[in-house]
Amino acid sequence: MSPTTNHRIDVSGLEVNGERLMRRLRELAEIGPIDGGGVSRLALTDVDKEGRDLVVTWMRDLGLEVSIDSIGNVVAAGRGRTDGPPVMTGSHIDTVATGGIYDGNLGVLSGLEVIETLAERGIVTDRPLAVAFFTNEEGARFPPDMMGSLCYVGGMTVEEAMSTASADGAVVGDELERIGYRGPMPCPGPAPHAFVEYHIEQGPVLEEEDVAIGAVEGVQGISWTEVTVQGQSNHAGTTPMRLRRDAGLVAGEVAVAVRRIAQELGGDQVGTVGSIRLHPSLVNVVAARAVVTVDLRNTDEQALQEAERRLAAELDRLAEAEGVTVTTRSTARFEPVVFDPAVVDLVAATAADMGLSVRRMPSGAGHDAQMMARVCPTGMVFVPSVKGISHNPAEYTEPEDLVAGANVLLRTLVKLATIDDE
Ligand code: GLV
Ligand code: MN
Ligand code: MN
Repeated sequence: MSPTTNHRIDVSGLEVNGERLMRRLRELAEIGPIDGGGVSRLALTDVDKEGRDLVVTWMRDLGLEVSIDSIGNVVAAGRGRTDGPPVMTGSHIDTVATGGIYDGNLGVLSGLEVIETLAERGIVTDRPLAVAFFTNEEGARFPPDMMGSLCYVGGMTVEEAMSTASADGAVVGDELERIGYRGPMPCPGPAPHAFVEYHIEQGPVLEEEDVAIGAVEGVQGISWTEVTVQGQSNHAGTTPMRLRRDAGLVAGEVAVAVRRIAQELGGDQVGTVGSIRLHPSLVNVVAARAVVTVDLRNTDEQALQEAERRLAAELDRLAEAEGVTVTTRSTARFEPVVFDPAVVDLVAATAADMGLSVRRMPSGAGHDAQMMARVCPTGMVFVPSVKGISHNPAEYTEPEDLVAGANVLLRTLVKLATIDDE
């Protein structure tokens, strides 16, 4: 079929190939599989490289121009009827260590699927389309999360990102070099015309309300703090309770305090202690040191700041009570983000036109889109997560829901890529 000469593309009959999308999702999930049907592809590990190689192969097979920047973000661009900034979609293919197969991967592979669907029909959009995957979205190995997209928009320098170390002592720059993804393109990168990310909701709202599509209005603020408690190790049998300076006890109390702060603030406030590392971590030794991570999130910046103040006060109180030293380090801090209302409206209208139920909603999880929103009109498409489970191998979305969301993405991208000269 020759490329259409009419740039007013009729989107009404356009649908992706759902089977092909599912096949690619399953194939990518074979890299780094874990028990329970999930996947572990922590950023910049050997399996991340393997996943990247596979997706880049698919991108090249579609004839896309693949560019890799100095923090390892990969952008694959097609051709439009005109030059100029592309309409970009994409997400990430790194996962947490206990990841499901959809988080991030769905958005990248759906972007590819959209481009392949259009190419098969000989449809060329006015503006070019591009699909990207960003380095280290999860931040599970190297904080902060959304590192690659943050660098892409100039919110963090590549130098700073490169020198970031993980808890296991690995360094971003060395790992990026080692897996061969330190690319030649400059970062920050060029602003797209618009950015739309397609993702599973990762929460319970759409399923509970039996709604097919979320038109995401923004992303809540994120505050990560690494808390180090320094006490004194001592003999578990001989040290009277009154003489202890127990870092393990304080770590536990931090977890309790975070839960209490979230409950007391109420509203959208959430708080998580997801990691406690004790040293020396032995059965018969009072812990000398604890490293505790705290994740606080809220859609309201003022409320999030209040949660941070309460955490700081609680840490002071705990240090004093147990005679330990507590130090903190902020490892991620992003204010709530509001997406472009025109893009949100477009996503909502596109879904409604397709006869799908749609709800406007905030995102509880962090996403690359929240960084891209700094440089171009941005929005997101959500589909339901069964039981709201994510960052867990049991993460699941019904194939028909996945395909419906990909079709909303397809039509949204085509509309954004159409130059309306009236
Ligand atoms: C990252 O995806 C996060 O929400 O933690
Ligand atoms: Mn994600
Ligand atoms: Mn995630």
